[in-house]
Amino acid sequence: MCGIVAYVGHKNAVPILIKGLERLEYRGYDSAGIAVLNATNDISIFKKKGKVKKLREKTPENTNSHIGIGHTRWATHGEPSDRNAHPHMAQNGQLAIIHNGIIENYDVLKEALRKEGHEFVSDTDTEVLIHLIEEVQKREKVSLEKAVQQALKEVIGAYAIVILDKNNPNQLIAARKSSPLVIGIGDNEFYLASDATPIVEYTKEVVYLDDGEIATVNNEGDFFIKTIEDESKTPFVQELEIELDRLEKGGFEHFMLKEIFEQPKTIADALRGRLDAGKGVIFMGGLQEYEQKFINARRLLFVACGTSWHSGLIGEYLFEELARIPVEVDYASEFRYRNPIIHEDDIVIAISQSGETADTLAALELAKEKGATIFGICNVVGSSIARLTDSGAYTHAGPEIGVASTKAFTSQLAVITLMALHTAHLKGTITESQFRQYINALDNIPGKVEKVLSENQDIILDIAKEYKDAHNFLYLGRGHNFPVALEGALKLKEISYIHAEGYPAAEMKHGPIALIDENMPCVVVATNLNAHEKIVSNIQEVKARKGKIIAIVNKHTKAKIEDIADHLIIVPSTEDILAPLIAIVPLQLLSYHIAVMRGCDVDQPRNLAKSVTV
Ligand code: M6R
Repeated sequence: MCGIVAYVGHKNAVPILIKGLERLEYRGYDSAGIAVLNATNDISIFKKKGKVKKLREKTPENTNSHIGIGHTRWATHGEPSDRNAHPHMAQNGQLAIIHNGIIENYDVLKEALRKEGHEFVSDTDTEVLIHLIEEVQKREKVSLEKAVQQALKEVIGAYAIVILDKNNPNQLIAARKSSPLVIGIGDNEFYLASDATPIVEYTKEVVYLDDGEIATVNNEGDFFIKTIEDESKTPFVQELEIELDRLEKGGFEHFMLKEIFEQPKTIADALRGRLDAGKGVIFMGGLQEYEQKFINARRLLFVACGTSWHSGLIGEYLFEELARIPVEVDYASEFRYRNPIIHEDDIVIAISQSGETADTLAALELAKEKGATIFGICNVVGSSIARLTDSGAYTHAGPEIGVASTKAFTSQLAVITLMALHTAHLKGTITESQFRQYINALDNIPGKVEKVLSENQDIILDIAKEYKDAHNFLYLGRGHNFPVALEGALKLKEISYIHAEGYPAAEMKHGPIALIDENMPCVVVATNLNAHEKIVSNIQEVKARKGKIIAIVNKHTKAKIEDIADHLIIVPSTEDILAPLIAIVPLQLLSYHIAVMRGCDVDQPRNLAKSVTV
């Protein structure tokens, strides 16, 4: 949670910081703030509860500052307020800090600092950290860098921090542990941020700070990295591949809509260079060295959260059916705390758009400790999960800014499908002709998604109008489409605040059917042929109780449904194993339009943040 940005160099710092915060706002939007050093070396702080827009209104464009730090907050300790907004100052007013993460032992530290005479003006753990650094510096009479090193040894928790020091007006000190920090290298200037999005328009040369590292940068181009243990490190410079236009709305009203419409391209990008349907081959660089491990794996364990967990559920259907490998799918937060049984011939696969989700990262660390092979499916290049894993595959969806995940989901599915098909082909659990049939169908998916997007807008808008005031929605699906029902329900609840539940259609009879009456819209994902007759019966059961049916079908599955459904969304047909890649798209659009009609903040829904790093 929280986004941090900082700049030191020779340009006007304020616009760089504010624009950077706007780019990072998807990470949290409870409050925003900046601290800059002005020409007389005074620290000026501007901060405001609410979104960056409010901060922009309140902050003068030119404060004659060439150095500063900024923060956009997702509250952990202390309510969202001006007072709890970052940056926070040390007692003597010499130091200011921004922090993404959580200091778990902050209360013990705070108590000890109080005894030394420290007074606090916020409820945050971050303020305690800067007071601690100040106290260490005073007590030990050491440089700020040394004080940071020592203070961080006393801290339990996660952090990416940047410190502005009145006494060193051309220098910033940053450190990280379990929260991301990227440093962009310009011409005698540096840009620091939680991810590369605030940096890319200024420079493409970046260094990803590693856990336990402290960086010192200044406006003369000096860049030093040391570990907390005082070992010097050479910065490893990488080239960014993000395109700037991916960070703009490009004429769409919201990022979410833009990202839904990008899916034909992003699915194609996930397949590009990996799938050659003409030659009948799949090639995946990240799998190559691990092919034998996959073939001989005792078990695959997918660990993930939210939408990425839904991708894992679809992965279970794919790997079990095609490659005949037993699969378990776990919420990362449950996996890490339940002392799971992990064998050395298990492969633990983390799925994460951001690559920074704290529970997924911790689950992987645990699996690694227990000797399993760990594999990552991530979107953000250079993210913590991508760097921790033995190997992996990027999804190449480009930056996803809308808090509700859309294009990242379908890209994850494309990658998992490739992995399952490739493993099955190598293992011989599917025939050559089945393999060819599936990869041809997969190759056609981007075109079919394009068709869903161009042909269904009006009908989806009508359905959205009719049900926008509903209090509850039920989403049903079977087989590969059961996780699609879960994902459809998640999309609706997170952006429109309508209560929605996803269920395997047959499970409905074991409880949720009690909820059905004439006010219950029921979205049935019926685009797969397996168990088709059964889902038709489920639809009858809903209808018999006066529920409203919104059915997603294709030309092969519509026959027995069109007469009973209240609304029909017809999408192109494909192989059952690929059905989710198409069926999810109308559900994303339905949620989007309902949320817009209800006046909700689609890209930044209340209480949420894009990456959950605590
Ligand atoms: O970055 P990750 O894929 O690890 O994030 C996992 C979830 O936090 C994320 O999918 C969340 O559920 C989204 N808001 C869903 O739209």
